[in-house]
Amino acid sequence: MRVLITAGPTYEPLDPVRFIGNHSTGKMGYALAETFAARGAEVTLISGPTNLPDPASPAIRTVRVQTAQEMYQAAVAVAPAADVWVFAAAVADYRPAQVAEQKIKKAGDTLTLELVKNVDIAAELGKSKRPEQFSVGFALETENEQAHALDKLRRKNFDMVVLNSLRDAGAGFRHDTNKITLLEADGRIATFDLKAKAEVARDIVQAVLSRLPHSHA
Ligand code: CTP
Repeated sequence: MRVLITAGPTYEPLDPVRFIGNHSTGKMGYALAETFAARGAEVTLISGPTNLPDPASPAIRTVRVQTAQEMYQAAVAVAPAADVWVFAAAVADYRPAQVAEQKIKKAGDTLTLELVKNVDIAAELGKSKRPEQFSVGFALETENEQAHALDKLRRKNFDMVVLNSLRDAGAGFRHDTNKITLLEADGRIATFDLKAKAEVARDIVQAVLSRLPHSHA
């Protein structure tokens, strides 16, 4: 079984010393990579900038990228041969329209940046997903959580969405714990308790494996 995982944030450069990024640590994606590898999978972990070391398992190949565009290119190269896709990265939705060659100097009291939309990696790959491939997305929502998550599942052609609600204490960015709900295309919904991210990864991997045709579970 081959698994593609995106993880961590993306950094979108403004000039040689600045970028637009986010607080994603990559922990959830790396934990998923370790867990899939422990269950016998060959994993390609496409990671934005994180402080985490490359996983030591020989079954995990780590590809380091910075921007959404680089993450997309790395994912496109691997996706057709992968049985499972897991989109755990917090991809920047927009990037600066221009990247200054030199450091931007301060001038004036306000500065307006023009941003342009980035490629949606999950949605773009979703267009060429084959029936035997299984795609898992993440949704971080603050209101109407399940409705928004199911909408994302349809728009991005996911088979399963991992929903984190920001209403749950201890879930999401900068925490070692997570509380998730798994939603599937056929309407199945499973809720889990607040757990360490390594345990959450085991729950997600178990759920995915149980849905695959030759039952790797
Ligand atoms: N994702 C992606 N590429 C992007 C943006 C998102 O692959 N450019 C993936 C994420 O890795 C995640 C899922 O899509 O699995 C949900 O991302 P999110 O940003 O929450 O979804 P959006 O459709 O951008 O919706 P929102 O309006 O909530 O931002």
